This record gives sequence, structure tokens and C-alpha cells, in this order.
Amino acid sequence: MKNHSLIFARAYEKEEGGKIPASSRPLFHLTPWTGWMNDPNGFSYYHGQYHLFYQYYPYDTEWNSMHWGHAVSHDLLHWTYLPAALAPDEPYDSFGCFSGSAVELPDGKQLLMYTGVRKEGGEKSKDLQTQCLAVGDGLNYQKYDGNPVLDIGDLPEGLSPHDFRDPKVWRTQDGGYRCVVGARRPDKRGVLLLYRSRDAFRWEFESVLAENDGRFGLMWECPDFFRLEGKDVLFVSPQDMLPEGFEYHNGNGTVCQIGAFDEKTGKFQAEHHQAIDYGIDFYAPQTILTPDGRRVMIGWMQNWDTCKVTGYEERPWFGQMSLPRELSIRNGRLYQQPIRELALYRNNKAEYRNVAVGGEVTLPGIEGRSVEMDIRVRPANPEKPYHKFTMRFAQDETYRSILSFRPHESLLKIDRKFSGSRRAYIHQRRCLVAQNNGEIRLHVILDRFSVEVFINDGEQVMTATILTSPSARGIAFEADGEAVMDITKYSLFSEEQP
Ligand code: FRU
Repeated sequence: MKNHSLIFARAYEKEEGGKIPASSRPLFHLTPWTGWMNDPNGFSYYHGQYHLFYQYYPYDTEWNSMHWGHAVSHDLLHWTYLPAALAPDEPYDSFGCFSGSAVELPDGKQLLMYTGVRKEGGEKSKDLQTQCLAVGDGLNYQKYDGNPVLDIGDLPEGLSPHDFRDPKVWRTQDGGYRCVVGARRPDKRGVLLLYRSRDAFRWEFESVLAENDGRFGLMWECPDFFRLEGKDVLFVSPQDMLPEGFEYHNGNGTVCQIGAFDEKTGKFQAEHHQAIDYGIDFYAPQTILTPDGRRVMIGWMQNWDTCKVTGYEERPWFGQMSLPRELSIRNGRLYQQPIRELALYRNNKAEYRNVAVGGEVTLPGIEGRSVEMDIRVRPANPEKPYHKFTMRFAQDETYRSILSFRPHESLLKIDRKFSGSRRAYIHQRRCLVAQNNGEIRLHVILDRFSVEVFINDGEQVMTATILTSPSARGIAFEADGEAVMDITKYSLFSEEQP
């Protein structure tokens, strides 16, 4: 029966999702209705609300045959689940509906463009990846009869049909459409292909938008391409990265390139590159333009290399989205700020100025797991800087997560060794940050199972998930030497029940 898998998934998620207690989820970071979640998909503003789809396997907390989960929101912080939008139920997507994006059509319908994956060739079968469409009304989506709209034959010669995925589609000023899709050369390096269309249904190859010269990993996944403050910005999530100083780390990473797109050649020329997130858990981000003109990004707040092991802990769901972040360009760099709507949900303010931090300091009113803190740290005596400043959070007798800063090296470190993990996976990451006359500014957002640190007004961000039981609520500060700290703290939403 047609759509059988979708009908089944919708019944299942309603039944099982309803059983998951809200207290097991974060307060304002989206988790799957039930089961597994990876990349954000189809992030869009459509008919008066934000839509976020996601890579989804409702039946287990591990990756498997991909569906598209669906949620809507008015403020990007409170999400309502809608029934799953896509399930793998056609020959061309029988192995999964992989990542993709959304655009509104002139008739008011919403178009989803995604990667349909099928298997080819018996025992040692391999993926065949093609681009497909579904049209809907914000609730129900009908797969297009002409799928796939970008088939293997639409790949430039020599590129692999096994890695051809993650279309990001947008409307062009002349009323047409473009999309950028990740592909792979025989030397395993990623390429980004640009396609164009008059009607969003018939597509033709336009150009190679950008190529991996070997610097950023191998295959390039989940591209996004947009204008920001007079510049063209290209996001990509490379697999198999080699580390580069404190900028890029091993494994799956995120790269932001800022530069210029040449309409004539269809090529993007980068002038600057940087990591999008310097923490442990952030991947495959997508952006939208909000009705009031903000470019907002959301990413999968997870790391492919730690999925299996974090899943070792019993949880009725797996995978979280990051906080939506407002993007801007300053001094040629990408800056990120938590979306401003977050300020609407602040309560329990506590504020301290010029706190001397030497031994351990705890401050009345500063604790909790759903918390925003704006912290400025500087040496008490600029002639004699402290050696290390430490903030511990999600702390009790057993647990603590640690953010520490060493001014001599200018390195900020996140450490989640004592955050509930029973496995030898990555627990620490360091990031080289700037100091402003010896001062650093840390804007920290905690939401039960994550920490996102916006450093120096959003010049860099470090994101990590934690497994710590929500009852560990302590926050403490310490310095080796003499530091001085200003702090403004708010509780976020109304968690404050252990
Ligand atoms: C990135 C990714 C995408 C793919 C999807 C499959 O995390 O590997 O390239 O479309 O996940 O779930």
C-alpha cells in the first residue's frame, strides 16, 4: 500500500512520543518526537510559522532508514511536533529520505527537496543517491511523480553516484530557483554542484560552485549558500577532517567560507574561512532568513563519532538541535548570537560586579541547568595575570562539567569527563580565543543536556552535549591566581524543579 511506511510512522510516533516525559527532554532545544534525530532539514518560514524538519528514525535511538520528522514554532524556542513528513516508501528512496531543504512555490505550496537513497547491487550493495521532490501544505507532502529530478545522469562526468546529496534550494531574484548539492570526486574529495531551474521541477547543471582542494576533509556534506551583509557565505560540513591548529579538529567538522560568487562563471571564491563551531557537538547547520531580515542558523548538536557511545546511556530519544543563532559578519569573520527571542524567557536575575575569584566561589542565585550567564573575566592585577580561571557547572558530589581559561596560552577548554559518560570518547576540546586588554567574555547557555558558549560577543562558539543527571545543578568559579569577574545570570524558562 502506498504511504504505508508514513502512516505507520505517524501512528508510532504519536503513541511512543506521547510516553516520553517532558522532564527527560531539554527545555528549549528540539529533540526527536521519538527515536533518533540527525541533521536539520527544510528549515523555513512558511505560512506564518517556522518549520523545522529533521533526519529521523522513529523506531530506535540509533541511525537507520531515514524519515523526515517535522516540528513548527512561532519563536524558534517552543516547538510543536507535527506528523512525520516523509518516509522511505518509493523505489528511488527505499533506503532513506536523506537531508534536504524547503522553498515556497508561487502557488503557496511548500516544496521539499531531499536526497532519495536506494541500494544497488546485491550483497555488497552501495547507495545510489539522487535528488527528489515532495510538495505539500505544511502538514502533508506528496512525492513528485517525476522523481528523481536530479538523477545519476545529471552528475558531471567522473563524480560518484554514491555520494550525491543534501540539496539546499532557494529562490533567485528573477523568480527562478537554484540549488547546491554535495558530490564527490574519484579522489574522494568533495565538490559542490550548482543546478538551476525555472519552475523548481526541471533542473539543469550550471557549474561547480566550489571544490575541496584537499584542505577540508574529504566528502562535503550539507552545503548552505546565502548572502549576508554584502558577502556570499558558503557553509559546508566536511567528513574526515585532519586537524589544523585550534581551528579545525579531526573527524566531521564545519567550515564557513566568506567570499564572492561570480554570476558569470557560477563559481564561489573564498576570501576567509573558519570553523563555524569550535566545540564538540555541532554539525550540518542550515540557515533561514526570518521575516524581519535576520539570517538564523540551526545545527545538529551532536558529533557522528560519539553517537553510538553516548547512546550507551538509557534515553528515550537521541539527538538535539542547537540553539538557533543569529549570524552577522564583523571584521570579515562570522559572528553568532543566541536568537534574541531567548531574552523573553529570562527570569530569576542575579548580578554581581567585581567578584574576586581566587579559591572556589559560589554565589547566591547562581545555579541551575537551564541558565544564561554573561561572564567577563580579567586579572585582578594586569601585571600579574592569574594562571587559570575555571567555571564548573552541572555539578554535585559526582558530576561536574568544566569550562577553563588559561590567559597565558589564551586557550579556552570545555571538559565533560565528569558529565555522566562511561565511555572513552572525546571529552575535551580547546579553542584559541582573543583577549581584550586581558579580558574575555563568555556568554553561556545551559539547557539540561548541553552547553553553548558564545565567546567575545559571538566571535567564536563552543558547543557540547552532556549526559549529567539534571539534579546536578551547582555552578562554581575558581582561579589559580587572582581574577575578577562580572556576572549576570538568568534562569531560562521555568525549569527550576530538580
Ligand atoms: C550528514 C548526513 C547527510 C545525509 C544524512 C543522512 O549528517 O550524513 O550527508 O544526508 O546525514 O542521515
